[in-house]
Amino acid sequence: MTQTTPRILMACSECYPVAKVGGMADVVGALPKYLTRCGVIPSVVMPRYDLPWFYDHEHELIHEGYLQYPHTVHPFRVIRYAPEILGFELIAIDLPGLFDRPSVYLDSNGEGYRDEPLRNISFQRAILQWWNSEPDRYDLLHSHDHMTGLMPFLMRHAYAYKGLSAKSVFFTIHNALHRGRLSWSAMSLLPHFDTWQSGLLEWDDAIDSLASALRCSDKINTVSPGYLEELPATSQGLEWIFQHESHKMIGLLNGVDYEVWDPASDKYLAYHMKKSLEQFKKKNKEALMESFENPDLPLFIFIGRFAHQKGVDVMLRSIHEHLLVRQDANFLILGSGDKDLEYQAQNLAHTHGAHVSALVDYNEELSHIMYAGADFLLMPSRVEPCGLNQMFSMRYGTVPIVHHTGGLKDTVPDISVGGNGISFTSVTTGDIMHAMHRALELYRDQPAMKSLRKKITSINLSWDASAEAYAEEYRLLLSPT
Ligand code: GLC
Repeated sequence: MTQTTPRILMACSECYPVAKVGGMADVVGALPKYLTRCGVIPSVVMPRYDLPWFYDHEHELIHEGYLQYPHTVHPFRVIRYAPEILGFELIAIDLPGLFDRPSVYLDSNGEGYRDEPLRNISFQRAILQWWNSEPDRYDLLHSHDHMTGLMPFLMRHAYAYKGLSAKSVFFTIHNALHRGRLSWSAMSLLPHFDTWQSGLLEWDDAIDSLASALRCSDKINTVSPGYLEELPATSQGLEWIFQHESHKMIGLLNGVDYEVWDPASDKYLAYHMKKSLEQFKKKNKEALMESFENPDLPLFIFIGRFAHQKGVDVMLRSIHEHLLVRQDANFLILGSGDKDLEYQAQNLAHTHGAHVSALVDYNEELSHIMYAGADFLLMPSRVEPCGLNQMFSMRYGTVPIVHHTGGLKDTVPDISVGGNGISFTSVTTGDIMHAMHRALELYRDQPAMKSLRKKITSINLSWDASAEAYAEEYRLLLSPT
């Protein structure tokens, strides 16, 4: 029988607005809302962190259990938040001692938690143990990234989850740079499984959660078609698997949650878009100009994680070199992460005080005002599986300047070919500075600048089309062959 209203369990480690570190949270917080309009019943399952959202909303306890380890047991509880709250059912797995911490991945020194193997495995086991107690509750698992990458293997080959062994699994790769690699000693944390199959866990002498998910899932997607093209050629040692599994892989571009990102009603903006886009930009820019000496200059922004992947190091050098020669622009930088990059950003702001402001912070509200008030967004990512910031910025009339890679090349073709922004081919100071010069030239040509702004705000970036494509993929997996 064809399942026409599939019930999907999405497993992930973050979900906006409950807990957010990066773009995966935006995706998992938005896609389910759009899926419900495509005849799918989605639920999201995530760990219960020590964050206010979990206490502030009404919830019910639906299951209690124990995970058996060689020398200990870990209790867990399954807590349900009704669909009325977020637009879809949210299930929180409460694992006392493991996830009841205020930060999702990093300890107070900015380092990954040392007990990550135990945390991730316990989370995945608790979901499967509970679901196995009522297998009919969901038809299909949709896992996201390596934190839930062992579930496809465990569903198929662990003896404890027999009720789930025939369920289909869909897997989304948001970022293949992170693999969830565990030493073989972590085997003792896994439930008993058919050891003839242990090769499906292994890659390059370790348990590799991502590699295992690629082999054991029925269908896999990357978050853009551009990224899908790159992985078989460059994926830090996983190239062979990407080539070998390519028959079950597709690229589905992320979208923007139009309920959250609406220039006419955004809850974080003091000035909403009414009739005039130019007025909207001007008013929001004024709100950002306090720290700059000359508020009439074009404003470039960067928002994001301070990580090597994001090209922040080269961007900071490019801004420095540009300002040594020409003081014709302002730069506002918002982000946090790598301590050395945080220091470099603050140093740049000290050196060029009148033209650079660097805020080491994660600040959702300010980021919205920045997208609304800026002229240009810099996105020099070395690797970008999709990238959402360039889409948020276009929605709010800020012209993106991007490295031609992954999802950035899908969403921001260069203006020289009638595209949506400025694109450059390598993450070097030369290319970034050249791109900034092109941006400044565009800014001087106000009619061209205004018409580009208008054009990018009218592009359809919503989740509608991609949500439909996900729903179709679920249905195909659930239909009898
Ligand atoms: C990861 C990727 C980013 C993508 C996001 C959501 O954070 O690095 O490119 O947009 O996931 O899929």
